[in-house]
Amino acid sequence: MSERHSAPSSSSQEHASQQQHLLPTVKYIIAISSGKGGVGKSTVAANLSVALTQLGAKVGLLDADIYGPNIPMMMGVHAAPGKEGDKIKPAQAYGVEVMSMGFFVPEDTAVVWRGPMVHTAIQQFFRDVLWGDLDYLLVDLPPGTGDAQLSLSQLIPLTGAVAVTTPQEVALHDVRKGLMMFTKVNVPLLGIIENMSYFVCGHCGTRTDIFSHAGGEQAAKKFNIPFLGRIPIDPAIREGGDCGVPIVVANPSSPQTQAFKDVAAALQARVAEVSAEEQAQSLSQMVKKIKEPMGLT
Ligand SMILES: Nc1ncnc2c1ncn2[C@@H]1O[C@H](COP(=O)(O)OP(=O)(O)OP(=O)(O)O)[C@@H](O)[C@H]1O
Ligand SMILES: [Mg+2]
Repeated sequence: MSERHSAPSSSSQEHASQQQHLLPTVKYIIAISSGKGGVGKSTVAANLSVALTQLGAKVGLLDADIYGPNIPMMMGVHAAPGKEGDKIKPAQAYGVEVMSMGFFVPEDTAVVWRGPMVHTAIQQFFRDVLWGDLDYLLVDLPPGTGDAQLSLSQLIPLTGAVAVTTPQEVALHDVRKGLMMFTKVNVPLLGIIENMSYFVCGHCGTRTDIFSHAGGEQAAKKFNIPFLGRIPIDPAIREGGDCGVPIVVANPSSPQTQAFKDVAAALQARVAEVSAEEQAQSLSQMVKKIKEPMGLT
């Protein structure tokens, strides 16, 4: 058990062991979050999931935005997923296992649910879905610090949270709030991704910083967490989302795809670092537990 889940009280120990069993076939679970809406979480999650498969990983993408699920559209899957026994089989898109409330609720229907219902829905996405042997499960969150974020951190042992931001001040202010929420519930912060970072003119190649410059990187420095890279603002990235073919699939040799691949590689490296730290911590805890009764500490 990782150190951050080995809380002292028996109820939280119970809770941690429940967490351990909910997703036994998934190595790393990563929340894609932001304090502010519309900064590109879903776009980044969709492209990153495919970029990670292109780097050789087995990947799942869970759309935890119960009220406004966008992942089916962005990944180009609309058919309801199949069943195997009493479990739901995730849909497949571009080599990624995909699950979303959007498969079960018609697109034009508003989901009006209270917090506990959101919690139950997210729990079912873990308990009742037949996720394969995955290296990474990316969880696309709704904006802010609401029910979905809390449920997620309570239900499963998150490897960590990634914050997506745009470079300008107002978005960064919200990032801080989002990050603080994860810190409070002991979820490691994996890093910041700066989306809509700059625009490169397709005609003359001039680079313009539409939403200010390098804010995400500065924020990462300020909060002392890694900066995982920047993604340009580009019409082809938006089109990819709208037509269900992420840019990393539609144009694999483009600079936009390279930007996603660079971020995917930085994320992989960061996850490896965090999990090595956790293993070292839990090992030293185990050694401490063995030594304590002998009075050797
Ligand atoms: N790098 C980018 N370049 C161009 N358009 C982008 C980029 N990233 C996101 N977009 C567009 O911005 C809009 C918002 O993106 P997206 O839905 O991914 O944000 P979000 O943070 O998931 O939003 P919400 O908070 O509502 O869940 C979409 O139309 C998307 O296509
Ligand atoms: Mg979204």
